[in-house]
Amino acid sequence: MSILSGKNVLLGITAGIAAYKTAALVRLFIKSGAQVKVVMTPASKDFITPLTLSTLSKNPVLSSFTNEDDTDAVWNNHVDLGLWADIFVIAPATANTMSKMANGSSDNLLLATYLSAKCPVYFAPAMDLDMYKHNSTKASFDKLQSFGNVMIPATSGELASGLVGEGRMAEPEDIITFLENDILGKLPLKGKKVLITAGPTYEAIDPVRFIGNHSSGKMGFEIAKASANLGAEVILITGPTHQKISHSLINVVPVTSAEDMYQQVHKYFDTVAIAILSAAVADFTPKEVSAKKIKKTSDTLKLELKRTKDILASIGETKKNQFLVGFALETHNELENAIGKLKKKNLNLIVLNSLQDKGAGFKGDTNKVTFIDNKSTVTEFQLKSKAEVAEDLLNEIVKQTHA
Ligand code: CTP
Repeated sequence: MSILSGKNVLLGITAGIAAYKTAALVRLFIKSGAQVKVVMTPASKDFITPLTLSTLSKNPVLSSFTNEDDTDAVWNNHVDLGLWADIFVIAPATANTMSKMANGSSDNLLLATYLSAKCPVYFAPAMDLDMYKHNSTKASFDKLQSFGNVMIPATSGELASGLVGEGRMAEPEDIITFLENDILGKLPLKGKKVLITAGPTYEAIDPVRFIGNHSSGKMGFEIAKASANLGAEVILITGPTHQKISHSLINVVPVTSAEDMYQQVHKYFDTVAIAILSAAVADFTPKEVSAKKIKKTSDTLKLELKRTKDILASIGETKKNQFLVGFALETHNELENAIGKLKKKNLNLIVLNSLQDKGAGFKGDTNKVTFIDNKSTVTEFQLKSKAEVAEDLLNEIVKQTHA
């Protein structure tokens, strides 16, 4: 999965011949899972039609402050557009538009949106080689970069004028790669490894039966996604679950039993900076596993169970600098019990779910949690989706580890 997945991408198109390549660029954004809106300068419509771009982006294309064809002219709000965007990519960026951007002009919707946007702005220049080399253009590049805008450099090659040199807009595939690398490089968990456990464990009774629990694995998978979205390399050790995930930064390690999970966690733990153990690990496992299917020869059946190893406690004992997060599911004396677990297992943070809260727990799509850290700071949250809870958790970890 691309780091652009789920992002709101605002594409600004200005009047250069390279505008024809933006059809491919929009398609690549959509393919990477982004939502795309397009804002054009009026003159750029001579190079590519809004219809092409609205069809590909699945959104209306905007180029003026009001919709001219509309008898009840509706105000196209550049402020809303700027706030909607997670990133604003101006490609192609002509010398004219860059000069206006550098000097605060706002005589078209694209420029007004640029001035309103609070998100990261990227610009991919495209022009003839002499224009590209001109000191005035260079001054625009410098000024825009001094504002924090990121330049996607033009490449050398044959230009529309027939001349060969620097000034060709980066190819759409290269713009995507540039954006992905730039976003990843700035993420707070870039280069950090995070180990996550998720799901239930199944403890075999015989070849066909097991003891399990109702954990869906959803919370752990959302935590994995949130970690990868911050640039972390994730090792997701998961018990049996229907959850699916595909992300270039997430390595899924499937396991079945508590013992398998213990072995895998210990295999990776020394290599990670952060470990988040959200799995609902069985506390007991059958003392003997029958090699053959148990037959119903009597009216009752006694199974003898033994304790499983506490994975979280075992890594809490040996941890060096790792930031360790555990979960606690409680029904009574919630805070007291969670703080007890945090201390006993040598954790940095514990996530408390109370079964008394509606919508919390391990089956549904929502959760209501409280974070408690090792300085006994308690932070309570409202009922949220598990994806939002995962984001809150990762934000807290980034804050606490000053990553
Ligand atoms: N955990 C673990 N290995 C186990 C059991 C639990 O790693 N064998 C982890 C869980 O992933 C979770 C935390 O420990 O992060 C839960 O702690 P636990 O003491 O098991 O809490 P509860 O399941 O709430 O158990 P209890 O019955 O003691 O309240």
